[in-house]
Amino acid sequence: SMLDKAYNIDDLRRLAKRRLPRAMFDYIDGGAEDEATMHANRRDFASVSLVPHQLVDVSEVDLSTEAFGAKLSIPFMISPTGMSAMFHPDAESAVAAAAAKAGTLYSLSTMGSTSIEDVAARSCGPKAFQIYAFRDRDLTSEFIERARKAKYDALILTVDVPVAGNRERDLRNGMTLPPALGLMGVLDVLRHWRWALDYARAPRMTLANVAHRIDEANADISTLSGYITKQFSPAMTWADARSIADEWGGPFAIKGILHPDDARAALDSGASAVIVSNHGGRQLDGAISSIAALPAIANAVGSQGEVFLDGGIRRGSDIVKAFALGAKGCFVGRPYLYGLGAAGGHGVDKALEILTTETRRVLALTGRSSIKEIDGSELADHRD
Ligand code: FNR
Repeated sequence: SMLDKAYNIDDLRRLAKRRLPRAMFDYIDGGAEDEATMHANRRDFASVSLVPHQLVDVSEVDLSTEAFGAKLSIPFMISPTGMSAMFHPDAESAVAAAAAKAGTLYSLSTMGSTSIEDVAARSCGPKAFQIYAFRDRDLTSEFIERARKAKYDALILTVDVPVAGNRERDLRNGMTLPPALGLMGVLDVLRHWRWALDYARAPRMTLANVAHRIDEANADISTLSGYITKQFSPAMTWADARSIADEWGGPFAIKGILHPDDARAALDSGASAVIVSNHGGRQLDGAISSIAALPAIANAVGSQGEVFLDGGIRRGSDIVKAFALGAKGCFVGRPYLYGLGAAGGHGVDKALEILTTETRRVLALTGRSSIKEIDGSELADHRD
């Protein structure tokens, strides 16, 4: 298959670009405004240099880690992303199944096109459910109850969306609510007829987790999106985070932390983990890159909680660099979405396989037989 010729994540990105209509591809690929933060996420990984140790026995390389109390076979997890059914009918279930197969944690977004319960039925692996700050506190309580009942391992509260980010590619392409593709957009969809055929046979795309909250009769995508967009609260504070932590009572991550003061506030509010993230550069353009924000946060958190990172990871070396700078785990978003957009579930398998193989190779080349041995002394500017 064409996946055999995908040697890295960028190859999967190219395949996704070919299969998906422009509006869908740009929705995955783009960021806010000038996309400066999105590019900084990559650039700042490139400016970190590894200094390998040599003559270490690396005949066995151990990639296993722990996160949220679960044992993982690989050092990276699946970031929550919305509406996977737009990219391929395999959607969230295939991503969750691929994660379980790879031995890692899947995160389902509130904005997912598959329900909490359906994802749980399709995947026996570790799972997290991601919520936002909702105006209706009952909606949060409902999600907490459903996630608990469906045996999710962790809850993730995303805090970097007090208001929607300004994504100009989406505005230009008519990827708005409701969609307004325009004549060129419609022609572009027709030109990508393979995607269009898949889309036509996909289960009707809905925001499955909130579908029951509005009238069956009105359950089209624009009404649902309108409902959920109105649910986003710009008024949430740390006190609300604490109340969510208390109600959930299990492993709890706050996602979207870039300031070390906020990392401490997250722990004080009852979070067991922070996810250093700028939402893949899709929210505040001009925000610090994730990898640049990591060291101060790792330092602030110390051994008081788990520090994870997402944003810009495209290579195994990026994962090793993140561990060297203090992360205890990583998450990836676009890498698996490129795979899904390129070839559905097989593409997701491929994305996870590429990053796993690369990480194993980079560890061996760095002179480390286990990801847990990474201690920062592998960095060019390391000082004892
Ligand atoms: C996202 N992200 C995101 N985050 C979140 O908490 N809830 C969500 O629903 C979404 N939706 C979403 C859709 C798409 C298409 C993308 C690309 C991203 C952000 C995501 O969880 C993660 O923080 C970034 O994707 C990480 O950066 P990389 O790995 O994509 O560079």
